[in-house]
Amino acid sequence: MAILATADPAVKVTASQALAEEWREGSLTLGQSVPPPRPARPDRPVLRPPKEMAKRRAFGSLAGRVALLHALAHIELNAIDLAWDLVARFASTGLPRGFFDDWVEVAAEEACHFQLLTTRLAKLGARYGDLPAHDGLWEAAAATADDLLARLAVVPLVLEARGLDVTPEMAARLERVGDTESAAILYHIYRDEIRHVAAGLRWFDRLCEARRLSPQAVFQDRVRRFFKGDLKPPFNHQARAAAGFPRHYYEPLAGEDRATP
Ligand SMILES: [Fe+2]
Ligand SMILES: [Fe+2]
Repeated sequence: MAILATADPAVKVTASQALAEEWREGSLTLGQSVPPPRPARPDRPVLRPPKEMAKRRAFGSLAGRVALLHALAHIELNAIDLAWDLVARFASTGLPRGFFDDWVEVAAEEACHFQLLTTRLAKLGARYGDLPAHDGLWEAAAATADDLLARLAVVPLVLEARGLDVTPEMAARLERVGDTESAAILYHIYRDEIRHVAAGLRWFDRLCEARRLSPQAVFQDRVRRFFKGDLKPPFNHQARAAAGFPRHYYEPLAGEDRATP
């Protein structure tokens, strides 16, 4: 997929939006392609192992807010690639068109999120690439490249659902220090992400049903096998419920003591 092979974030964004538009118009068909093991990335930001990342500073300072928005922009750039990787990697597996409709839409929204954050960063005098970013995000994709249920369990239902848990608090903190513009972007992202989690769950449940499997049991099995670390409470049950995500799927995994493979 050309978008995954594109390193320049701005080109990735415009190409994502253009491709989504063509998909909506029905002028595209699914090809047969194997996505690259890792998407192309710009030279900057420098990618560092997660444990080497500095702790985020207080939001009260400009530097602290820039660091937060930069980290979120990096997550959104990864999210663009994750959505296209899902479309490309599972294109030849006989899934219904509705599956691709959903993930193409997600890719376009992730591109919009990246753009909102980088536009805001520019207003604060900063650019994506100015700070180091962490390199752990693609691990989830690599680990789940051969198993669609694992991919859906880990990416939308663990990582994006985690976003729902933490985003309202970050937005509220930005509001408290008077940065209502950044807060508004976070609330926008938050509303979209509820739909991303909902899409993840809808397809996860459907695929389990088609295979006559218990979605709750399969979710817990895949998270234990493919996600390093615990699910961290407190959960935002309200947002998760709005996405149709039942507590009994994820609550038993909270704070379990699991050995990392
Ligand atoms: Fe996003
Ligand atoms: Fe998302």
